[in-house]
Amino acid sequence: MEKIIDEQKQGEALILENNTQNKRKLFIESYGCQMNFSDSEVVASIMASEGFSTTTNLEEADLVLVNTCSIRDKAEQTVRKRLQKYNAVKNSHNKNMKVGVLGCMAERLKDKFLEEEKIVDLVVGPDAYKDLPNLIKEVDAGRDAVNVILSRDETYGDVAPVRLQSNGVSAFVTITRGCDNMCTFCVVPFTRGRERSRDPQSIMEEVDDLVAKNFKEITLLGQNVDSFLWYGGGLKKDFEKASELQKATSTNFAMLMDMVATKYPKLRLRFTTSNPQDMTMDVIDTMAKHKNICKYIHLPIQSGSDRILKEMNRQHTREEYKDLITNIKNRIPGCAISQDIIVGFPTETEQDHKDTLSMMEFVKYDYGFMFAYSERPGTTAGRKMDDDIPNEVKKRRLSEIIDLQQKHSGERMAQFVGQTVEILIEKESKRSDEQWSGRTTQNAVAVFPKENYKVGDFVNVKIDSCTSATMIGNAVGYSENN
Ligand code: 5AD
Ligand code: SF4
Repeated sequence: MEKIIDEQKQGEALILENNTQNKRKLFIESYGCQMNFSDSEVVASIMASEGFSTTTNLEEADLVLVNTCSIRDKAEQTVRKRLQKYNAVKNSHNKNMKVGVLGCMAERLKDKFLEEEKIVDLVVGPDAYKDLPNLIKEVDAGRDAVNVILSRDETYGDVAPVRLQSNGVSAFVTITRGCDNMCTFCVVPFTRGRERSRDPQSIMEEVDDLVAKNFKEITLLGQNVDSFLWYGGGLKKDFEKASELQKATSTNFAMLMDMVATKYPKLRLRFTTSNPQDMTMDVIDTMAKHKNICKYIHLPIQSGSDRILKEMNRQHTREEYKDLITNIKNRIPGCAISQDIIVGFPTETEQDHKDTLSMMEFVKYDYGFMFAYSERPGTTAGRKMDDDIPNEVKKRRLSEIIDLQQKHSGERMAQFVGQTVEILIEKESKRSDEQWSGRTTQNAVAVFPKENYKVGDFVNVKIDSCTSATMIGNAVGYSENN
């Protein structure tokens, strides 16, 4: 796994293909988090019912939709560059080509997008995709179209996603939308609105469908999955106002995971992202109880300094986070843990930075996603704090964090050498067409010779060597899960 999410790479075109002739052609690509990629699958489904067939060839597109990310300035710059590319293709190939911007940047910039980027005809926020059929009609009539209304209850639970670029083995299932945490650095509460959960019945139906189609691994997805709470619909923050009956019959995240894991004991179950303050012992115990819930938790810390955690409005202290880690390690032996860390948050001192390094030494994270602070307009930190850490300092701190993570990742991988681990085969290895690539329950990537195994098989692989990112071995047979 990469140590830093590179928006350029992360934004690898997410492209749908459909050979139907005589239909208008849609080219769709996504940048940002998994939630965006998952949302594009919802959009693809809505557009398919509007008669759009899809193309991997930008030059023949009648409509281009780009699902955008606002998390850091760099993510936005990447999208702006893509818009220039669409403009060039429009001028050279199809003067009638239309361009729509979806997702977080659409929500953040709203109709300003139309002024700032002349190429844009359509701006649609993350909760307004069901309005796409109407908006497209507006665009067809020669008018710009914008819908960035955020919703209290939209979860797209009734839209069956079209699986894009699927390996047929692993899929995402969205369970919550929005975020109420209001971390002071983060744009997400503004771009994705308040937190709401999806009806467990529709989640189950989507899982049933994936299992029927032979998918082997499902990742439950949300900005804050541990705070999943279904009480009949509505915002998480309104739960207190729910009736006694609604409260008594509500479903929380541990219950939801238990339901899925119990119904499909051979299905690998993952989830992301967890927020430390919302992760309950119930969730940890549910993970410990089910073999098919993967031993891997992405648990962003952001900073190891209590003072910075407070400035970030994270709802936990360093000690509370350490206690949580200790509980996880005690109850789920061998559980992998990964982090998100931001360096150079306003006012961060060398001591704060050292606190982050010492937190890393305590946890010894298996993987990490590390970023330099990027001020986001409209956030509390953006409005009230000076972005006062010089770039060279941010860079140096970032490379110290990355080096330490690389060391820990390498040490962790080395522990697997000589062991036999269960791998779910997902795809061909990027390095060799004679090798398969798959992951362990801890999310560690392994490659090994294909022999007669195939994508979707669970195999036991004896690990012979490793780098800090990949284990290398040989299959010794099918695992009992196969
Ligand atoms: N600057 C840098 N990194 C950020 N993240 C969120 N907002 C910012 C920002 N303004 C990081 C956090 C989060 C991850 C998805 O992106 O670490 O967990
Ligand atoms: Fe980017 Fe956050 Fe929006 Fe995902 S939710 S696309 S990471 S801004």
